Amino acid sequence: MRSKSTNLLKGRKILVAASGSIAAVKTPLLVSSLIKSGAEVRCLITPSAARLVSPLSLASLSRNKCFQEEDQWSPQQAKPLHIALAEWADLIVVAPLSASSLARWSQGLAEGLLASVLLAFEKPIVAAAAMNTGMWGNQAIKGNWERLKTFNNLLCLEPSEGLLACDRVGEGRMVSNELIQLAIESAFLQASSEGKITKDWTGLRLLTTSGPTVEPLDPARLLTNRSSGKMGVLLAQAAKLRGAKVDLIHGPLQTPEGFLEGLTTYPITNANQMKELLNELQRSANAVVMAAAVADLRLQRGQNNKKVRKEELLSTIQEDLEQVPDLLKEMATKRLPGQVLLGFAALSGEDSEIQKLGEMKRAQKDCDLLMANPIDRDGQGFEVDTNGGWLLGKNGLVQLMPVQPKLQLAHKLLDALLLSGLKN
Ligand code: CTP
Repeated sequence: MRSKSTNLLKGRKILVAASGSIAAVKTPLLVSSLIKSGAEVRCLITPSAARLVSPLSLASLSRNKCFQEEDQWSPQQAKPLHIALAEWADLIVVAPLSASSLARWSQGLAEGLLASVLLAFEKPIVAAAAMNTGMWGNQAIKGNWERLKTFNNLLCLEPSEGLLACDRVGEGRMVSNELIQLAIESAFLQASSEGKITKDWTGLRLLTTSGPTVEPLDPARLLTNRSSGKMGVLLAQAAKLRGAKVDLIHGPLQTPEGFLEGLTTYPITNANQMKELLNELQRSANAVVMAAAVADLRLQRGQNNKKVRKEELLSTIQEDLEQVPDLLKEMATKRLPGQVLLGFAALSGEDSEIQKLGEMKRAQKDCDLLMANPIDRDGQGFEVDTNGGWLLGKNGLVQLMPVQPKLQLAHKLLDALLLSGLKN
């Protein structure tokens, strides 16, 4: 079940372009991270970005020359540089994209090296905007951004809110490098052979859960599990990048903070809180994915307020323990017409045993699809970046999902949800 590569960026040629926003100070670290992931990187910097960050830093970190404005029409270049770079790269990431670079690009003005390369490029592009809050809210800039969002080879990352270098607190901050790298990986998975990026979840709403739930025994002790929450968070981001509206209910996560940026999130700790939110949000969802690892047991009367002495622990909790109700099963009874439910099952044993147990669980919980994944093998399950197993559906459908990066599996599960008759 092992796939050849678990690294989505290995050997990919990525052109990193920085334009004039103070967020350009973060670009060298993005370059460094892409290099560590095995990508081949070249950099391009506009004159205003070159005043904010050193081209030498970008050259050193990318192990390549950093291209600047004056290189565009150099007699050293046999082919115009913007064409040579557009032919070389598999993907361009513009981070940050400033207001003036956005204007030139969206209006088709091939002025300067960056706009020329972007306009000549037919493969996937990821663009992360950054500017002052007032500028971001300006109608002219909003109009340019909306126009850019219609380009079919593009993933647009809107700025997030925060303290800006101009001392204003508001929208305009470039999203984190973690999210930009995730979007780059996703763009490769979403791209067709012609470089178009699919947005096939546009108009649909996904409700997903992620991470463990936690049931306290007393102020010091908890009942929980090893779920990191990565699978559910990546499903949420992948669906958003494919155009979906996403609600993510999550327990305590062990994922990079940047992975949550731009998502509508509902942090919870216990199963009761998760259940209340599911009841509220299920009615507006086209698909529900239960990727959360709900803790199995809890105290009927709630947590002991005082720490229980070790000697008395077993006798104190034994009588009071109860099973946490099955949230997925409850949702299946309230399923709306055309709403599709996907569950997960963490299992161990032989392949055939896992498929059999998985199918039993799918039928018991009455979900349309269930991803049965072994957790007793290398590179699968909790706390790792890869996962695999079998996707089980009604009428005996069994689809092998080889071990692959969790983001890639997230996209395959989103494909399967679309194919399973989900309705708007
Ligand atoms: N699930 C749920 N509510 C629970 C337990 C599980 O909604 N109380 C959901 C999980 O989110 C997952 C699926 O059911 O989508 C399978 O979870 P799993 O823990 O594997 O199943 P259990 O029924 O708890 O079985 P096991 O005995 O293997 O723990």
